[in-house]
Amino acid sequence: MALRGGALLNVRDLSIRFGGIVALDRVSFSVPEGAIAGLIGPNGAGKTTLFNCLSRLYRPSEGTILFDGRPLLAAPRHRIAALGIGRTFQNLALFRSMSVLDNVRIGGHCRMRAGFLAHALALPRAEREEAALLEQVRLLIDLLDLGPVAERPVGALPFGTQKRVELARALVTRPRLLLLDEPAGGLNHEEVDQLRTRIRDIRDRLGVTVLLVEHHMNLVMTVSDQVVALDFGRIIADGTPAEVQGDAAVVRAYLGTPAA
Ligand SMILES: Nc1ncnc2c1ncn2[C@@H]1O[C@H](COP(=O)(O)OP(=O)(O)OP(=O)(O)O)[C@@H](O)[C@H]1O
Ligand SMILES: [Mg+2]
Repeated sequence: MALRGGALLNVRDLSIRFGGIVALDRVSFSVPEGAIAGLIGPNGAGKTTLFNCLSRLYRPSEGTILFDGRPLLAAPRHRIAALGIGRTFQNLALFRSMSVLDNVRIGGHCRMRAGFLAHALALPRAEREEAALLEQVRLLIDLLDLGPVAERPVGALPFGTQKRVELARALVTRPRLLLLDEPAGGLNHEEVDQLRTRIRDIRDRLGVTVLLVEHHMNLVMTVSDQVVALDFGRIIADGTPAEVQGDAAVVRAYLGTPAA
């Protein structure tokens, strides 16, 4: 794997509280550009909360997030996709009555530079943007094997296929960093194997850095270059899959004994 340069994502001393719960407690880690990084931890460890901070849905109480060296917390939430961060959700968030193609295409509109009026008047710049978007949508529909169902309403498709639609939609904005929250949840064995290949393809062919929250240990440990483990809002391990898998605090966290 060729890592291109320094950290794309740099999280420093990030904390967030909900009432009395410290959901993230001085979390620090970084992800190099071009890496696939896994984020693991027991239920309630703070994984989704961290994603919600990265996508600016939650405002951390303390800490900084640098994306490509720039402070992310200064950017408004609606700029996150345009800055280059895409995500999928732990629970699917798709328009069920709309087609696969339209669900994917809708993800791209936030990145368009020409305004609404330019599109309404079909001005040349808007037309060029629309054509480029359609090309990207087609590429992703191919990459994720969605061609045969492109015109079908999403709600009528099997769960595993819907998860691929969500993945395509997250990629249509051409993110540099893709946040995947439990992409293997609800998938069968064969679908998890395909997902592993797809995550690699996304990194290798589209050049996207991936941060992956997952309970499926086999997937995380085989697909990731780096694994970060959270427990009760704290980082308890950060290293190669082999290092983290054998880490005493990680083993304790998964056996149900709180880490010291
Ligand atoms: N909006 C919120 N309001 C109050 N508490 C919250 C909120 N979001 C998260 N929490 C709390 O923060 C903690 C971390 O939750 P989070 O959803 O991040 O865990 P997780 O690691 O994603 O777990 P899972 O593996 O079950 O998805 C939990 O105690 C949760 O109840
Ligand atoms: Mg979660």
